[in-house]
Amino acid sequence: MTVIFSGIQPSGTLTLGNYLGALKHFVDLQDDNDCYFCVVNQHAITVPQDPITLRKNIRSLASLYLAAGIDPTKSTLFIQSEVPAHAQLGWILQCISYIGELERMTQFKDKSNGKEAVSAGLLTYPPLMAADILLYQADLVPVGEDQKQHLELTRDLAERFNNRYREVFTIPEVSIPKVGARIMSLQEPMKKMSKSDENQNGFISLLDDAKTIERKIKRAQTDSDGLIRFDKENKPGVSNLMSIYSLCSGKSLQQIEEEYANKGYGEFKTDVAQSVVEVLQPLQDRYYDYIDSTKLDDILDAGAEQANKVALKTLRKVERAMGLSRNRKK
Ligand code: TYM
Repeated sequence: MTVIFSGIQPSGTLTLGNYLGALKHFVDLQDDNDCYFCVVNQHAITVPQDPITLRKNIRSLASLYLAAGIDPTKSTLFIQSEVPAHAQLGWILQCISYIGELERMTQFKDKSNGKEAVSAGLLTYPPLMAADILLYQADLVPVGEDQKQHLELTRDLAERFNNRYREVFTIPEVSIPKVGARIMSLQEPMKKMSKSDENQNGFISLLDDAKTIERKIKRAQTDSDGLIRFDKENKPGVSNLMSIYSLCSGKSLQQIEEEYANKGYGEFKTDVAQSVVEVLQPLQDRYYDYIDSTKLDDILDAGAEQANKVALKTLRKVERAMGLSRNRKK
């Protein structure tokens, strides 16, 4: 069976971008594969976090995974810090990473740009991400486009380790969706939709109510030529709305172009908003069922137990291969 691993940071409510670029695909993959999905809370602390908010966000993200359709009888859902092997292997992989290659990561450059005090964790974030993936010997990692570079580094580190010591790690492949790999901001469609955007109108939160979703989509930036046509370069706003609509309604981009050939942006936006509401409303109902339930704790306890078992097996192999163990005399 193919092993799948992916993670999401609990750093605020998820956006429609997280859902369409990642979470939705996790759900599709879980029927035929051995899946591990993680709340990567140790990645979240590479930037300052308020403890009360972080605790809330961890629970909220775990509930969102389940509400989106992650089925704990098919997938292992767990919290990163409850599996100590992540930090342990993260350290080992830091020791085989080069500072230069970590400094070249676009995410590091973006997040550290113009900041006076940057945590060392922000720089060593990718070896921890590699540890997440390699501990489970993942074959495939479904992510949005922004994580592609981190996945390339993960492959490099795994190969470096295997060559330097012995073949311990499976080299993972990245899986990036054809449509929706980069959902853009509704206000600045050349920028990725992000939960840390200061402009609330730029993103749709998975917990936004119907009225808010309609308002944000109505206000979305388009252009003045009035044509509903997929052309990311010249019509980034319209193309972004088309991607969202396609993923939420199941219609292809071509079908959408044909259907709206003689229609204006007003009608198009109303239908886009409607399709988003139809996806998010049932998800939100399920979310509120999970968030305060003990059922959620039971699922996460079982997930941590299973993940610990698998992760520890790989960690022991790594330690043995490197000589990080003792020659026992008895
Ligand atoms: P994070 O938490 O920023 O995002 C979670 C997932 O959502 C995708 N995504 C998007 N996809 C399309 N359009 C967007 N606008 C958009 N914004 C976010 C991301 O690509 C990601 O797949 N480093 C990772 C978390 C991580 C991880 C891992 C992922 C840690 N360890 C191991 C995979 C495997 C991150 O910060 O994702």
